[in-house]
Amino acid sequence: MASEPVNVNEFQELARQALPKMYYDFYTGGAEDQHTLKENVAAFRRIMLRPRVLVDVSRIDMSTTILGCKISAPIMIAPTAMHQLAHPEGEVATARAAAACNTIMILSNMSTCTVEEVASSCNAVRFFQLYVLKRRDISAQIVHRVEKNGYKAIVLTVDTPRLGRREADIKNRMVAPQLRNFEGLLSTEVDTDEGSNLEALAEGIFDTSLSWEDIGWLKSITNLPILIKGVLTHENARKAVEVGVAGIVVSNHGARQLDYTPATISVLEEVVHAVGGRVPVLFDGGVRRGTDVFKALALGAQAVLVGRPVVYGLAANGERGVRRVIEMLKDEFELTMALSGCPRVKDITRSHVTTEFDKLR
Ligand code: FNR
Repeated sequence: MASEPVNVNEFQELARQALPKMYYDFYTGGAEDQHTLKENVAAFRRIMLRPRVLVDVSRIDMSTTILGCKISAPIMIAPTAMHQLAHPEGEVATARAAAACNTIMILSNMSTCTVEEVASSCNAVRFFQLYVLKRRDISAQIVHRVEKNGYKAIVLTVDTPRLGRREADIKNRMVAPQLRNFEGLLSTEVDTDEGSNLEALAEGIFDTSLSWEDIGWLKSITNLPILIKGVLTHENARKAVEVGVAGIVVSNHGARQLDYTPATISVLEEVVHAVGGRVPVLFDGGVRRGTDVFKALALGAQAVLVGRPVVYGLAANGERGVRRVIEMLKDEFELTMALSGCPRVKDITRSHVTTEFDKLR
């Protein structure tokens, strides 16, 4: 590495240097005009902090508990597809970094290492992200493997009946490799010369008919808690609680699905109010600083998930790179807690931030 990065944003350039353009563009891009992509980050910058002074901050405790799993800080690893395109060790390296940082990794359904390989490579607490396939029998088999291999929750992604239009992938004719979780079950290699192979893959295998009633089906095939990922409105948050999910992830899929959805941080509070503490609310989209983690918690999230920076860390320096990304965010978050007068996570409250909407209240 040229010079050691001092913040997680600096890993992006290292990833750019390390990766073929097709893969870098795949990891970094968003949908269509990428308006939401910019907003996810920009909206954090419009939130200001309201620190309290003369609080004893000689000991800072960042630890928290998510669905019964104790972790060192409320910073988790978001599910992102195909880590072996970033680094030969793929998701195994990411999981080892999660274990070293004592946090939770959410393994993507579209991973390049199998559920079993990731489980046996380390003792990280793992959740599994699921896309429901047209072939429900294959989804059910995968869920059973996930359960058997000690994953602690299913994170059902609900914002992807079809893939968003990612124009760089279309231009680059992004190619999807055979995804190993589906080996022997389903071919994920798509043979088309036009546009993004990933888009064609999703169209071929994802169940576009998936609806609220199907949460019942998923519950009937697993005893694991089910979180749903991709909620942006109070209407859907209420519905999710009604159908009995164990948690909600406020997410716009890192702005890769529907462009012109709001920045996730600007709708977090709406969802948190609708949920009213009945289930935990997790958050992702644009978290790049410890102050972002603090802001999301002040607005009611129990923890944040980090997507692209983890992949950039992996591309730049494998397991060590991912570890550095998580450690940097943890260090910055700890400092933010100290300088805000919040020695414990539960000391972080709504009154520690002001948002652009507060003036309108
Ligand atoms: C994703 N995301 C995603 N989500 C999911 O549920 N299943 C998946 O397989 C993927 N794959 C994926 C690949 C890449 C390259 C990216 C960047 C994102 C979305 C991811 O879980 C998360 O919602 C966002 O990445 C969070 O935003 P940031 O942290 O990237 O800004």
